[in-house]
Amino acid sequence: MGRVVLADAAAVAERVAALLLADRLRPSRPLGLATGRTMEPVYACLARQLGRLEPALAAMVRDGWCSFNLDEYVGLAAQDAASFAATMERQLVEPLRLAPGRVQLPDGRAVDPDAEARRYGAAVAAAGGIGLQLLGLGLNGHVGFNEPPSEASVACRCVELSGPTRRQNAGAFGDDPDAVPRRAITLGLAEILSARRVLLVVTGGEKAAILRRALRQPPTPELPASWLQLHPALTVIADAAAMG
Ligand code: GLP
Repeated sequence: MGRVVLADAAAVAERVAALLLADRLRPSRPLGLATGRTMEPVYACLARQLGRLEPALAAMVRDGWCSFNLDEYVGLAAQDAASFAATMERQLVEPLRLAPGRVQLPDGRAVDPDAEARRYGAAVAAAGGIGLQLLGLGLNGHVGFNEPPSEASVACRCVELSGPTRRQNAGAFGDDPDAVPRRAITLGLAEILSARRVLLVVTGGEKAAILRRALRQPPTPELPASWLQLHPALTVIADAAAMG
């Protein structure tokens, strides 16, 4: 496991954005992307770094872009401002000027969410699986929306969101946890652990305790992020506050 500890969230964002850009300059498999507060400055840095590239290289990154997000809320249309699809539009697609369809997410409005989860998992597999997977960390140890308990073998599926996760994500829903959808579609630990490389990005002191446990205690379904210890190419990039 590689560990990179940087001074603060801004330094983490610069480093992670540089790694994403390097991946896109030599793309092999699709990029796996995440949403959340941790990733907002990462995508902002990525847009700035792309803007500094020479035009031919920037065009190569845009033209070759292919990414799959980890998850989406069930019941939210892509046009809903709180959906992860709309979040990616604002934070990535528009600033990077990516063509439609390059940034893929599960369809939160699919009539049959279980079938949509199977379709999305199959689409990731058909694209060759994920190359570089970007991950944030939930306060309860979730990755994507793989809530405790989650086995390492679970694949893309429709899940129930826990109370703590709905509280953590209430910010996009007027700070009302009850307004946060109760279900989501998420890539599973099976897809995440099959990625060639995994980048776990963690910032802020409130995540120090869960990060320590995720990296140190024996892997367990009760702490889904702990399964990442089994990945042969895991890099943890954290700020000093999160790394304790
Ligand atoms: C969310 C997302 C995860 C994200 C995590 C951390 O619920 N489903 O993909 O990485 O929780 O979020 P944040 O960065 O806002 O702390």
